Amino acid sequence: PLPLLIDCDPGIDDALALLLAAGSPALDIRAVTCVAGNRPVEQTSLNARRVLDLAGADAVPVHAGCARPLTQAEPRSNLVHGADGLGGVALPLRGAVAAGHAIDVLVELLLAAAPGTLRLVALGPLTNLACAELRSPGLLRRAAQIDVMGGAAFCPGNVNPHAEFNFYADPLAAQIVLSAGAQLQLFGLDVTEQARMSDDWIASLAALPGPAAAAAQAMLRAYSGVDPLLHDVCPVAAVFAPELFDSAAHRVAVEWRDREREGRLLVDDAAAAAGDSAIARIVTRANTPALLDTVAQALRRLGA
Ligand code: BDR
Ligand code: CA
Repeated sequence: PLPLLIDCDPGIDDALALLLAAGSPALDIRAVTCVAGNRPVEQTSLNARRVLDLAGADAVPVHAGCARPLTQAEPRSNLVHGADGLGGVALPLRGAVAAGHAIDVLVELLLAAAPGTLRLVALGPLTNLACAELRSPGLLRRAAQIDVMGGAAFCPGNVNPHAEFNFYADPLAAQIVLSAGAQLQLFGLDVTEQARMSDDWIASLAALPGPAAAAAQAMLRAYSGVDPLLHDVCPVAAVFAPELFDSAAHRVAVEWRDREREGRLLVDDAAAAAGDSAIARIVTRANTPALLDTVAQALRRLGA
């Protein structure tokens, strides 16, 4: 199985992404690191622990990371996932959040692995990854690939017309990660708009066995009225099922200086070409039915 680190801010779609990873035999989750994003970092870490416990992945450690973004004192959190971040679905907490800050864990694990062997998936604001890169320059280049949910390359944002939430929540961190010279693939709203769940699909999860599918269904019922998109599932699915997605290489940067447009993903324009830009693959198409099937199969395996 592919060794994988997941940085996230659960978040209902993050929770589904964790269930997908835990229920996919092709993946070996080495650690989960959490960041302030949808909710404060204390909450996102506990939520990740709860979701992994639900999946029976008690051996996967969860580490809390940065509590605020780089340029603002307060996190720019997001209430679309409810006050608890999991749509009010009370999941039991069995394990504990592990000792060790997310930045230290990212640095240790990436330095310990042979270059080009660990995959990294980022599902929240990029503060932890950026700080790990600042701590140990060149670190992110050691990942085999970094798949990021963030940005809106060719479509409007979801926080404002310019910006998608994860890049808006810490624009400077996003720019630090994009300019780190890593093998990067961006799953922005361009593709995650296609990861749309129908009410029928959510209803169909009732046929799956076990507590993970039941909890997933309850969380998605709470979420689908507000945002029926499984954003964070896309980059996790792409690690083991890349054929579900189409992408192309572009020159990219993230706007972080201009208050009006902060968090905007700049693509192939003069601004993206200036200074610390980079080449990343931007994903623009998903095979939605196959993606939803992949999620359902993982939930089924967790219940087996
Ligand atoms: C992103 O923002 C969060 O609400 C979701 O978890 C996803 O990572 C979508 O813009
Ligand atoms: Ca997220």
